[in-house]
Amino acid sequence: MRLMNLAAGDTRAAIDVARRRYGDAFVFGFGAIRFHWLLGAAANRFVLQEAAGSFRNRAAYRFLEPIGGPSALIVSDEPEHLRRRRRVQPAFHQRRLREVAGRAMRAFETWGDAALARGTLALQPSLRPVVLDQVIDVLLGPDMRSRYPGLRTDLAGMMAFANQPFLAQLLRVPLPATPWWRFTAARRRVDAALYAEIARRRALPEADVDGGVLSVLLDGAGDGPPLRDTELRDQAVSLVSAGFDTTTAALTWCAWLLCDDGLRQRVAAAVQDVDIEAAPSLPEVEALWREALRLYPPAPAILRVSAETVHWQGLALPAGSLVGLSTFHTHRDEGLWREPLRARLERWLGDDPVWAAPRDAFAYLPFGHGARYCIGAGLARTLAGAWLAVMLRRARWQALRPEAVRPIGTTLSPPQGLPLRFEQLPRT
Ligand code: HEM
Repeated sequence: MRLMNLAAGDTRAAIDVARRRYGDAFVFGFGAIRFHWLLGAAANRFVLQEAAGSFRNRAAYRFLEPIGGPSALIVSDEPEHLRRRRRVQPAFHQRRLREVAGRAMRAFETWGDAALARGTLALQPSLRPVVLDQVIDVLLGPDMRSRYPGLRTDLAGMMAFANQPFLAQLLRVPLPATPWWRFTAARRRVDAALYAEIARRRALPEADVDGGVLSVLLDGAGDGPPLRDTELRDQAVSLVSAGFDTTTAALTWCAWLLCDDGLRQRVAAAVQDVDIEAAPSLPEVEALWREALRLYPPAPAILRVSAETVHWQGLALPAGSLVGLSTFHTHRDEGLWREPLRARLERWLGDDPVWAAPRDAFAYLPFGHGARYCIGAGLARTLAGAWLAVMLRRARWQALRPEAVRPIGTTLSPPQGLPLRFEQLPRT
């Protein structure tokens, strides 16, 4: 009973209780949310590598289909997944990300001016529109926002639906003023804008050189037959929606870790020592990013559905079982990490073997693993590097209610979006 109460309010706490009682494999929930939780690095290896062929994505992430459509990568199973992924992957090439960094730094400079002028603000809701703009520019092209002025609000509106608790998302009542009604209206407008844009670009005599990932997909880079218009729409919407909330949350958690004086001094000193362009790739910035994603992985669970009967640690998973892997619990596992709840840059800097992160690839997987590894990991890191480079050079900040900061929500976030007080650093 206690488990059921906990599961209704806080899945992560419920998993902790169940794990103490039943070990690394157990079942809880009911109906559409009856989860088979498999915990720890060995479970991650089993599902994502050893027995990956026995698990499917579409049935697990079906609840995302209304947003990203049936051909989004996350809901595609093989062989279609591989075909689509081969088309999309080249569009995220490293060279393109370098151009993104400069544009993002300028946007964050402007955001920083406003944050410093205000002094106090809730970080996550304040950053969300800026990150959304950056993600739209990269994925759909920088002219897209001016050509379709309502697009940004509608995409954010669609995400508001996806950010509701899991059960609330299953309530799809087509009545005016319900969340589902608002969602479908926003989706109709987004789809109209995207199909109009795809048609416009197809009619252009020459390739659109600055049209973001969408234009690269239209130009037909990558292997295999080109994507159809419906597939292009699905990639565009699903990439934006997979990217902007997760990246905003990750950035917010980086800022939270930097409220610790010792940690902040180390990263800020390194950043202030180099040119702004070099700051994002500093080892200290990378270590901060990794540590934020370890303690607060914005995607705290990875889901699959078994396609056949599978056995793991004595638990039989009949075909059709919904399986949950917890990045959150793996990253806080005392068997894998020394004092897991402490943020320590040394885990990643290679300067202190006592604190070194485990070598096991399945002990740390904020972006998943293998064939389904997050396609936007580099983009998220680029945007975070740009924000950290800009803000660590000009400001310091403190949480207004540090005692209240704990991870909540399906995209792991701090309560009230992390209210912070910003203070300008003296110019050097
Ligand atoms: C800090 C930010 C992000 C985090 C923590 C994150 C996390 C993840 C994780 C854990 C997966 C694997 C899911 C699974 O195996 O079931 C994934 C997949 C994916 N992510 Fe991300 N993501 C982030 C940013 C982004 C961005 C910026 C984009 C797009 C621009 C993106 C697009 C995708 C896509 C399309 C997939 C599915 C890949 C496939 O199935 O082939 N993500 N992400």
